[in-house]
Amino acid sequence: GRVVALVPAAGRGVRLGESEPKAFVTLAGTPMVRLAVDGLLSSGVVDHVVVVVPPDLIDSASACLPDGVDIVEGGAERIDSVRAGIAAAPDADIYLVHDAARALTPPSLISRVVAELRCGRAAVVPALDVTDTIKSVDILGNVTGTLKRSELRAIQTPQGFDAELLRRAYSAATPADGATDDASLVEHLGERVRTIPGDALAFKITTPLDLVLARAVIAAAEA
Ligand code: C5P
Repeated sequence: GRVVALVPAAGRGVRLGESEPKAFVTLAGTPMVRLAVDGLLSSGVVDHVVVVVPPDLIDSASACLPDGVDIVEGGAERIDSVRAGIAAAPDADIYLVHDAARALTPPSLISRVVAELRCGRAAVVPALDVTDTIKSVDILGNVTGTLKRSELRAIQTPQGFDAELLRRAYSAATPADGATDDASLVEHLGERVRTIPGDALAFKITTPLDLVLARAVIAAAEA
């Protein structure tokens, strides 16, 4: 089966506080989107990569990405960007959806997700235990409940799907769902999503502190 990785990189990255869109912020001189794509390609389990970028960054993306990677225009919401990626690769048997912001994801995690799909699972996500206590709050900031930590997981990417299932999930999805990941759209269909152990290095580089951590990880690896 043909494995296509979709890399949504069309977000503005407001929370990171850098001038360029997040996927184009560099770590040791390399844009995050390039690092994410290199990780996918070096896993050895990905046949094709489609990167989804803001319309004004198509040219910058093609300048920094390897030959053979498809670059397509994203949309206002993440769901619009992933949908554009799906449309650009209609011949996939398996889709991986992988945030450009998870630039340091180890190739071994990528191959473990694909291995689980090859064993017959239709939807697979990497998961880590949470270390903070998670509470729900109302709009005033009053606590309305405390979730049971032992039942909670922080979910990473790449998320892997049988291609037909992901297409079906996206044909039913609208931005109003407020989905923050792809698996939740599959959950809405009532289909089972399987977790596998995630990897701390697959953390999403979202805040300025995350950027400090990512740069320190690279510096330590090069030392
Ligand atoms: O905003 P969040 O951190 O959840 O974004 C996750 C990923 O989705 C990032 O790689 C971002 O570039 C991408 N994204 C996108 N199109 C959007 C919004 C986010 O491709 N409209």
